[in-house]
Amino acid sequence: MSIMEEIRRFAEEKLRGEKISGLDHSERIYRWCEALARDEGGDLEVLRAASLLHDIAVPLVGRQRHYEEGAKIARQFLSGLGLPPERVEAIAHAIEAHSRFGGPEPRTAEAKILYDADLLDFIGAIGIVRGIGRGLLGGEFDGDVGKAPEFLLGVIEKYAAGLHTKRAREVARARLEFMREFVERLREELAMRA
Ligand SMILES: [Fe+2]
Ligand SMILES: [Fe+2]
Repeated sequence: MSIMEEIRRFAEEKLRGEKISGLDHSERIYRWCEALARDEGGDLEVLRAASLLHDIAVPLVGRQRHYEEGAKIARQFLSGLGLPPERVEAIAHAIEAHSRFGGPEPRTAEAKILYDADLLDFIGAIGIVRGIGRGLLGGEFDGDVGKAPEFLLGVIEKYAAGLHTKRAREVARARLEFMREFVERLREELAMRA
């Protein structure tokens, strides 16, 4: 089994049962990391490993401190696979710096790319689906459609800024525009104007 297959298998095992930050999320981030690296540079192996592993601690410790715990678990796992210490550190830094909940600022090209790739999954059509799901599971949204516009505007507010790469900023602009249109449409339907 290649190292990347081992990493994917490990991530799959850790994320089993996770509904919002599951393997499907990590696989989308993986592809965005590859796409952003085409413009920005960055080590693809580091990015692929970091994207698959970035949320592995969510099922274990919840969202609040998952970046810290995830970096710790990844360090241990990757060292055990025999990866050189500087690659382990590069991957661990990207993981500990990917979250808006806390952690250090992203210092490397790889950490900035992972941060941006992850943020894109919080906005746009994907962001609406994930946001509603996250809100229902976490209790911030109670399922009342009348409250959904406010809830989604809160998501927009939270994730509208702070990107590091030009391409991600362009994609984010289009995704946020769609979210605002969606909220507008939702309001029209709730007011029986559409
Ligand atoms: Fe995360
Ligand atoms: Fe994530």
